[in-house]
Amino acid sequence: MVRRSAWFWIMAFLHLCHLSLSNSATPPPPVLPVPSASQLHWQRREVIMFFHFGMNTFTDAEWGTGAESPSLFNPTGLNANQWMDAAEAAGASLAILTAKHHDGFCLWPSQYTDHSVAKSPWKGGKGDVVGEFANAARSRGIDVGLYLSPWDRHEKTYGREKEYNEFYMAQLHELLTKYGSISEIWFDGAKGEGATEMNYHFRDWFEMVKQLQSSINIFSNAGPDIRWVGDESGSAGDPCWSTINRSLLRIGDASLLSYLKTGDPQGADWVPAECDVSIRPGWFWHKNETAKSVSQLLEIYYNSVGRNCVLLLNVPPNTTGLVSGDDTQRLKDFRAAISRIFSNDLATGSAATASSEWGGPGGGFAAANVLDSDDQTFWAADGSDQQGAHWIELALPAAKKSFNVVRIQEAIALGQRIMEHEVYADDVLVAQGMTVGHKRLHRLTTSVTAARVKIRITKSRGTPLLSAIGLHYDPSVDGPGEFN
Ligand SMILES: *[C@@H]1O[C@H](CO)[C@@H](O)[C@H](O)[C@H]1NC(C)=O
Ligand SMILES: *[C@@H]1O[C@H](CO)[C@@H](O)[C@H](O)[C@H]1NC(C)=O
Ligand SMILES: *[C@@H]1O[C@H](CO)[C@@H](O)[C@H](O)[C@H]1NC(C)=O
Repeated sequence: MVRRSAWFWIMAFLHLCHLSLSNSATPPPPVLPVPSASQLHWQRREVIMFFHFGMNTFTDAEWGTGAESPSLFNPTGLNANQWMDAAEAAGASLAILTAKHHDGFCLWPSQYTDHSVAKSPWKGGKGDVVGEFANAARSRGIDVGLYLSPWDRHEKTYGREKEYNEFYMAQLHELLTKYGSISEIWFDGAKGEGATEMNYHFRDWFEMVKQLQSSINIFSNAGPDIRWVGDESGSAGDPCWSTINRSLLRIGDASLLSYLKTGDPQGADWVPAECDVSIRPGWFWHKNETAKSVSQLLEIYYNSVGRNCVLLLNVPPNTTGLVSGDDTQRLKDFRAAISRIFSNDLATGSAATASSEWGGPGGGFAAANVLDSDDQTFWAADGSDQQGAHWIELALPAAKKSFNVVRIQEAIALGQRIMEHEVYADDVLVAQGMTVGHKRLHRLTTSVTAARVKIRITKSRGTPLLSAIGLHYDPSVDGPGEFN
């Protein structure tokens, strides 16, 4: 018998440890740029809610003039908890309020102007809509966002650059210090006609926003964290890159709409797109308007969330200070339709194979990771593969069921990569598109029954990483009118 020293056994043990460690490969390196933690968190919200409420609600207008009397603002039954029923019905985890619109009337008692709830009959001038909104949201686990219009048609200093920028900065400071954590702040570049000389000091404003709220996302049509998608119909482009060159963007520059819509595969900055759209024709409540149908809302969902965007859906409270019961019901039906389509994944139980797996078998990046409903795990193709030759295939369970929606998701924490892709059912091309990003939904024109579904990534930046593939059934494809 050979006697082994303690040293030998320690080395043997370490060797075994090393073997089991090397069993899982190091992940593929990121492809820059990558999202910040706040941007990733925002992207996973998918549907968020906008509430347009203010002076315009009482004057039946979309844009006020600033000459409205605060005495008109009197929502006798305002209940922000009821607004959150609407947000919850839609499955929204973030709600954004118009703290001030272009007419300059403030929904909180700002120290810097008299043109606010403090001069209104509502609650004897002691009310604070922003405060009630923030409390109601938080009590339901919903995060808070705010919009403070840079254009102010009431404020006398408007047009005097130094004074007005200081005034705006002071109001921004109030909103970002009095109401706890704010997850998103919304800016637009509206400045009106007579006052086109007004130069907004966005750089200073943004700097202060980040100093006061370090994990906030700033939205504008130039970012820096979230960009406008370039339309108000809830429809993103294909491609829709989360990457873009921020240096080319200008707030309020209408010539950039198509660049905003598609993003830029060479973009140096991660600035994902948000699709803002109202459930009704207008942004504010009007007695003569009604909510879009569930099938219209679903179409918007496919064209926004299904194209790598977050959907910011506006629901306007009425003059009572409540969201119309019909609108809340519509949101419930919309969410029920989404659940009906996506809660059942016909890919479950499939066997997944791929052109290659990063780190080889047992490397931790297997094709099967797209089926585990964990978005931290993903399939990674091996980097040594030829560009355009990557594919992943699902062999579906024997009991074949028809599907008409294909869901594909990239592991975007390591960068957005897919430039072009195709979907095959039993070798027949059923869908193709450019970008994928956080979520790509292909709604097919007819239902398909197949034994195998293959996704070919025909062009990508670096090796593709997919965190999920799902196959779903949308009953409205076969039966239009299923969701009305
Ligand atoms: C964006 O920036 C990258 C890198 O600086 C550059 O290669 C690309 O051409 C730019 N895109 C546009 C549209 O100018
Ligand atoms: C409803 O009324 C408002 C205000 O009077 C008006 O601006 C809007 O165009 C009307 N909407 C429809 C759909 O007719
Ligand atoms: C506002 O909506 C609530 C809830 O549906 C309703 O009770 C109230 O009558 C509505 N107010 C107006 C002015 O339509």
